Amino acid sequence: MKNLFVCLFFLVGITGSCLAQNTKRGTSYDRFSPAAVWTDTKGEVINAHGGGVIFDNKKYYWFGEKRGRGASEGVNVYSSSDLYNWTFEGLALAPDDADPESDIARGCIMERPKVLYNEKTKKYVMWFHLELKGQGYKAARAGVAISDNATGPYKFVSSFRPNGNMSRDMTLFKDDNGDAYHIYSSRENYDLRVSKLSDDYLTPTAQDTLLFSKHREAPAIFRYKDKYYLVTSGCTGWAPNKASVHVSKSLFGPWQYIGDPMIGPQSELTFGGQSTYVLPIQGKKDQFIFMADKWNPKDLKDSRYIWLPVSIKDDAVQIKWQDQWDLKSLNNKRRSPGS
Ligand code: GAL
Repeated sequence: MKNLFVCLFFLVGITGSCLAQNTKRGTSYDRFSPAAVWTDTKGEVINAHGGGVIFDNKKYYWFGEKRGRGASEGVNVYSSSDLYNWTFEGLALAPDDADPESDIARGCIMERPKVLYNEKTKKYVMWFHLELKGQGYKAARAGVAISDNATGPYKFVSSFRPNGNMSRDMTLFKDDNGDAYHIYSSRENYDLRVSKLSDDYLTPTAQDTLLFSKHREAPAIFRYKDKYYLVTSGCTGWAPNKASVHVSKSLFGPWQYIGDPMIGPQSELTFGGQSTYVLPIQGKKDQFIFMADKWNPKDLKDSRYIWLPVSIKDDAVQIKWQDQWDLKSLNNKRRSPGS
């Protein structure tokens, strides 16, 4: 009997240490647990919502909204070399406390920050959805900030309505040839538009087109082979809704609707989340991670992250719920809709 207890004790111990190792500094992860609390290498809950990730100099950098209790507190940045364990690098872009007239004066709303590295200017360029202090969501502008380093600090450059269009939920996309694009919800979110960026990525060019008018937001885009895939959500504020994917051979369209990619419990509500980014995994050709936010409007800081692998075959995109998964499992994964 005593031996049985000893065996059980060991079994429980081994299983526990496989899931995640608790260290003095925090938790070290060896897998993703979508929608679970996710802490950084110091044990603090990661605060990077509506975010995006770039890979630069052998590291990933995750930029996202820093949230207090509801308030917008700027843009946080974390770094990682394995995508599971993230080190807090600081506040990449802070609201302006010195100048109450600044577009980014404290009290403004900064959402959905995305960063690209510009090879020509050797600068990191951040775009974000900006709402001016005291105006709710009326201003509908895009903000741009710049830095010499991935982790910042970023310096605010300007804010505007691209080509005069309202601009709320947004993402950036850098194509293989270095051309970059801003994809944004416009006309009270009824339109989704794309504009090609200037060579320095600091302004939109006049090449600015309507993608479709379907009342969609939370754009997250990726390129697979010679096609572009665009995941969006409906417009129900912080509440989750049904995702959709459109596919096109050109960023300027025409875009074809190919359905809801989510599979699993609450798939019709994007598992309780809302798209924010699709991240190409380095060293794993044609493998992507879908990133979403499971918002907690009562305490936005406490919103969770849903990261899941994307599977694509013959234009069919599938994002299946998994309680836990790791990057190793992708190697053996059959890349077919039935996998
Ligand atoms: C959502 C949007 C979020 C945030 C929120 C505010 O529709 O995706 O980024 O703007 O509305 O209610």
